[in-house]
Amino acid sequence: MIIYGPLRALLLTLSLLSAKILAQVIQETECTDTRGFTLCQKLPSSSNSSEYQHSVGLRSNSLSVSWSTEYNWSAGSDATPKSYASVESKNVAGVQLKLRPILTTAWLWKYVSRSSSDKSVIKLEILVGNSMARGTGNAGKVINVQVWLSGKAGGVQPPGTKINDANCVCGYDWSVYRHINGLVQTITFMEISGEEIPSFDADLGELTDYLIEVLNVPETFYIQSIRAGTEAYSGAASLLTSIYTLWAEYPDVS
Ligand SMILES: *[C@@H]1O[C@H](CO)[C@@H](O)[C@H](O)[C@H]1NC(C)=O
Ligand SMILES: *[C@@H]1O[C@H](CO)[C@@H](O)[C@H](O)[C@H]1NC(C)=O
Repeated sequence: MIIYGPLRALLLTLSLLSAKILAQVIQETECTDTRGFTLCQKLPSSSNSSEYQHSVGLRSNSLSVSWSTEYNWSAGSDATPKSYASVESKNVAGVQLKLRPILTTAWLWKYVSRSSSDKSVIKLEILVGNSMARGTGNAGKVINVQVWLSGKAGGVQPPGTKINDANCVCGYDWSVYRHINGLVQTITFMEISGEEIPSFDADLGELTDYLIEVLNVPETFYIQSIRAGTEAYSGAASLLTSIYTLWAEYPDVS
């Protein structure tokens, strides 16, 4: 196992610290379990030996995780990301929107290094659909909701066309885009002035309420998954999430 650059320095530092630290490195298209979260990356099958991505779960408990990812990709298509790396919380899957959950979210991230050619998007991805589990749901009844946190969306345009401004949702004003490709619908929230949001601290329940109240998503739909991570189109970067927290509470359930 060859580990490069800043990630290696980080791992060496971590190996000196306490046993609570995970340091589970993944290097292929694979997932690893980090207590309350699953860390996954998906890489292109055709990458050559000079291209790579590694992700590592650093420490975690049932409600929060810190992790990092490092990659170097040659230029690819602007339309299709080369790779994804993200963490998925286990405790919000299968929550029905009707419960109006409070989804307390905090995400502190930064680029430890980033090449000028890097093109990538930092985002939350919320899958909602008419059944509970990810990968299920009737055709046309699953919506991929994205919240883009990288500045000017990392040089990438949201798919589809702008349908709305969402003001004061989760503490920001957003441009809302909708894209329908066959049976797949994607709704993207991009900060309205292209601002970078490296410290996101919000109730994502405001966003799911917006889906119901403004975009007419049925409240019988379920949250199938919430993932937080990056998709990379080209270039090299080392991205550190020093903390990502997500938990759900149900105000109307006594
Ligand atoms: C990424 O790979 C390219 C091509 O191999 C190389 O020229 C470049 O220095 C690498 N960048 C980093 C940050 O490792
Ligand atoms: C392999 O990687 C190099 C450097 O990153 C890139 O220039 C080249 O196009 C890649 N080749 C293939 C077949 O993907």
